[in-house]
Amino acid sequence: MFQEFSPKVVFSEETFRRFQKVLQEKKSLDIYSYEDKCIKRRIAVRIRARECRSPEEYLKLLAREKEELELLFNVLTINVSQFFRNPEIFAQIKNLVFPEILSSMRRERNRSILSLGCATGEEPYSLAIILLENFSFRLRDITVRIEGIDLDAECLKQAREALYRPEQLTDVAPRTKNRYFIREGESYRLVDEVKKFVRFKQGDVFRDRIADYANYFDLIVCRNVLIYFTRQEHERVLAKFEEALKEGGFLVLGKSESLLGRTRHTFKAISLRESIYQKKYKEKRRKKRKLT
Ligand SMILES: C[S@@+](CC[C@H](N)C(=O)[O-])C[C@H]1O[C@@H](n2cnc3c(N)ncnc32)[C@H](O)[C@@H]1O
Repeated sequence: MFQEFSPKVVFSEETFRRFQKVLQEKKSLDIYSYEDKCIKRRIAVRIRARECRSPEEYLKLLAREKEELELLFNVLTINVSQFFRNPEIFAQIKNLVFPEILSSMRRERNRSILSLGCATGEEPYSLAIILLENFSFRLRDITVRIEGIDLDAECLKQAREALYRPEQLTDVAPRTKNRYFIREGESYRLVDEVKKFVRFKQGDVFRDRIADYANYFDLIVCRNVLIYFTRQEHERVLAKFEEALKEGGFLVLGKSESLLGRTRHTFKAISLRESIYQKKYKEKRRKKRKLT
């Protein structure tokens, strides 16, 4: 799906120390205690997003723009994911989104779901668990593929490994935990029955295509990713989602994220509180649907 991965951003030791100093002085963020490789990867996210040619160019921008410093701070203090994070959103996906996506009214046999910014895999795997627990009868006739995409190759390695610490399973019901996880020492390993639904790929939502062609996905889940972007970048990403979604396809954003720009007209809200939206059908199709 993604064509290529962005070129590597290279930091000189001196430049990296300047980043450490700025963050310490301006945001009291002590990044000295973090792993350098991880911090550099996260700073590179913002360097690419702002289309800077080097870390030095980005440092200059950082000195000029307060908003950018905030965004970088958010990226560096990124949260790890969890299974069924914000369980009420997953309840709505189960009750409102999946019944429609899996409806026999839809002609195609395949359904495609994208979890963008999937981190260590809990989000796409949670979707697969909901499918198995509630819609197994539909899975006999329909093939569902879930794609998990993230910029961070390290996260994806963990996602494929599918071995989780107990705190990442806090919102998993005991029955589900027993059914789909196997205890390995202190950790829990997800079973293959769930894993087989999900394929992981590395990609950058800004630089890469998110679908092979327009009208591809039935559902895009992109939660707690857009908060790291400026308003303009946020709009650019939403426009990509609109193109990649089928008519009538669903978009789920994070709790504090919402539609911007033209997508406010091309989507309708299914649940504003949970940031669930549906791409509107084109006029002609809607009339046709009404007639039949
Ligand atoms: C806070 S995590 C969200 C995880 C999950 N969606 C959730 O809500 O639990 C944000 C993820 O977005 C990824 N990310 C940030 N910028 C990205 C980009 N430009 N393209 C793809 N993924 C990106 C980060 O690597 C990180 O894993």
